[in-house]
Amino acid sequence: MSATRDSERIETQVEQAEQASKTVDESRVVMARSMQPPDANVWGNVHGGAIMRLVDEAGGAVAVRHARRPCVTVAMDSMTFKQPAYIGDLLTVTACLTYTGHTSMEVEAHIEAENLLTGNKRNVGTSYLVYVALDENGHPTPVQPLTPHTDEERARWRAAEARRARRAR
Ligand SMILES: CC(C)(COP(=O)(O)OP(=O)(O)OC[C@H]1O[C@@H](n2cnc3c(N)ncnc32)[C@H](O)[C@@H]1OP(=O)(O)O)[C@@H](O)C(=O)NCCC(=O)NCCS
Repeated sequence: MSATRDSERIETQVEQAEQASKTVDESRVVMARSMQPPDANVWGNVHGGAIMRLVDEAGGAVAVRHARRPCVTVAMDSMTFKQPAYIGDLLTVTACLTYTGHTSMEVEAHIEAENLLTGNKRNVGTSYLVYVALDENGHPTPVQPLTPHTDEERARWRAAEARRARRAR
C-alpha cells in the first residue's frame, strides 16, 4: 500500500472514531429544585439524603443522555457537605461526564445552594458517581466513548482514571 493511501486510511479511521465518540457538552445536565419542608430536619437544614437524591437524578440523566440506554448507579463516592442548604434554597446540581469505560461512565456533580431572597450562593459539595448502561436483558452493555476536547476535560479524565483505579483496589 502506498504512503498516501495509508495516510488516507488512517485519516478515515480517525474521522470514524471521532464520529462514534461523543462530547462532554452533549450530555451535560443542570437540574434545580427548591428545598421544601419535607426535605429538611426540624431546624431547617436540608437532609444529606435529599441532596444525594437530586445528585443521583442529575447524574443518571447525564449517563442515559450519553448512552441512550437505561443506566443504573453502581457507585457513589463518599461525599462531604462543605456548607449547609436550608428550606427555601434553590439547589442546583451541574453534572457532566468525566470518563467512559467499556460499559461504565463516571459523572462529576457540583452542588450549589442559592438563597433566592438575597442571591447568596453556597458551594455545597462535589460528588462522583459511576453508572453502568444495560442491554434489553439487564446486562452491562458497551457505551460510546467520550472524547475530552479541552485541557480541563482531559484533566478531569485523568483524575477519573485515578479514582477508577482506587475503586478497583
Ligand atoms: C451494575 C451491575 C449491572 C454491574 O454488574 P457486574 O456483574 O458487576 O458487571 P461487570 O463486572 O461486568 O462490571 C460492569 C462495569 O461496572 C464497573 N463496576 C462494577 N462494580 C463497580 C464498583 N463497585 N465501582 C465502580 N465501578 C464498578 C466495572 O468496572 C465495569 O466497568 P467497565 O465495563 O467500564 O470496565 C450490577 O452490579 C447491578 O445490577 N447493581 C445494582 C445497581 C442498582 O440497583 N443501582 C441502584 C439503583 S439505580
